[in-house]
Amino acid sequence: MTPGSIPARRVRLLDLSALHAPIQGEIDAAIQAVIQSQQFILGKPVARLEETLAAYCGARHAVGCASGSDALYLALLALGIGAGDVVLVPAFTFFATAGAVSRAGAVPVFVDIDPVTFNLDPAHLAATLSRQRQAKAVIAVHLFGGAADMDPILRIASQHGLTVIEDGAQAIGAEYQHRRVLSIGRIGCLSFFPTKNLGAYGDGGMLTANDDDLAHHLAALRVHGGLERYRHDWIGINSRLDALQAAVLLAKTPYLDGWTLARQQNAARYQSLLADARLPVVPPRPAPYQTRHIFNQYVIRCQRRDELKQHLERCGIGTEVYYPIPLHLQPCYRELGYRAGDLPVSEEAAAAVLALPVHPALGPGDVDYVSQCLAAFYR
Ligand SMILES: Cc1ncc(COP(=O)(O)O)c(C=O)c1O
Repeated sequence: MTPGSIPARRVRLLDLSALHAPIQGEIDAAIQAVIQSQQFILGKPVARLEETLAAYCGARHAVGCASGSDALYLALLALGIGAGDVVLVPAFTFFATAGAVSRAGAVPVFVDIDPVTFNLDPAHLAATLSRQRQAKAVIAVHLFGGAADMDPILRIASQHGLTVIEDGAQAIGAEYQHRRVLSIGRIGCLSFFPTKNLGAYGDGGMLTANDDDLAHHLAALRVHGGLERYRHDWIGINSRLDALQAAVLLAKTPYLDGWTLARQQNAARYQSLLADARLPVVPPRPAPYQTRHIFNQYVIRCQRRDELKQHLERCGIGTEVYYPIPLHLQPCYRELGYRAGDLPVSEEAAAAVLALPVHPALGPGDVDYVSQCLAAFYR
């Protein structure tokens, strides 16, 4: 590519129009049905979605709510976590994971990550807990669609009396040792933000739980703490899932596995092309326990990341940096007293990661083009 020339192709990071076009009729009919019912809050579509996704995730219960961020917050509320409590959170994740802890009045303590999977490192969790005695819970994030190493996390958590919350916002259908995530910890949290493998036409979220009483508590907390009209057993919030969003999600759910397969195929194609090209790039390598990686994002580690991003932009290729600042170094957490160098693996990841397009509407030619443009940059 010479400066100013027209790219040979355009490859978007995500192409929702292409994804929705083949099933637009079904989505529109589902929306129309809600409009005809005039029941816009919770109701049948939400109940059906909860049933469908509880089964999909292998959990006994699912409770729809307004967003993944609210799901995390509601999980903490249900566990009675608040002022004075500490919650352990990986330092390399989307802000909402830690933001929910602060919103609940608790304090996040950040844990470094595994350099290969980008997920919470159990050894670092154990080391942090040896210094940190008042912790109540740990949030295991299944980042980019790959499961965190749940068995050691659960073992360490139980040794220290911590509850494990799963942040599976990016990981619907991912598996850990052939078990679906969101059914492994005490509570699971999902997001339906439009970039997720199962995305709504706006915001939406869901909680999963195996415990009947906990599920009942969560269902009440999302409607001001009461399931009986004008009786409030707890102080909850308004975090209902719209019937319209639930209807869209129900229309899309039958296609989810096909879309995930297309993502996995695109990832496999990158894997062989990038390995053959011998570039200073580390493609994602699922760990043996990540028996089903759903590739919500395909994130490489690379040298000269920001220059590469610009080069790919000039080639017509959309990329994104998830996430450029680890949470312990975010300005809003300055008062927690962390310094650069405290959590080196998270800091290195933040400096080197780049997400390449992996969405299901890509063709093999798109993946080949991205790989060729990437190779050209390092030549
Ligand atoms: C890891 C993680 N946790 C939580 C969230 C919050 O979800 P939402 O955007 O639905 O509030 C997201 C959303 O991007 C996420 O990626």
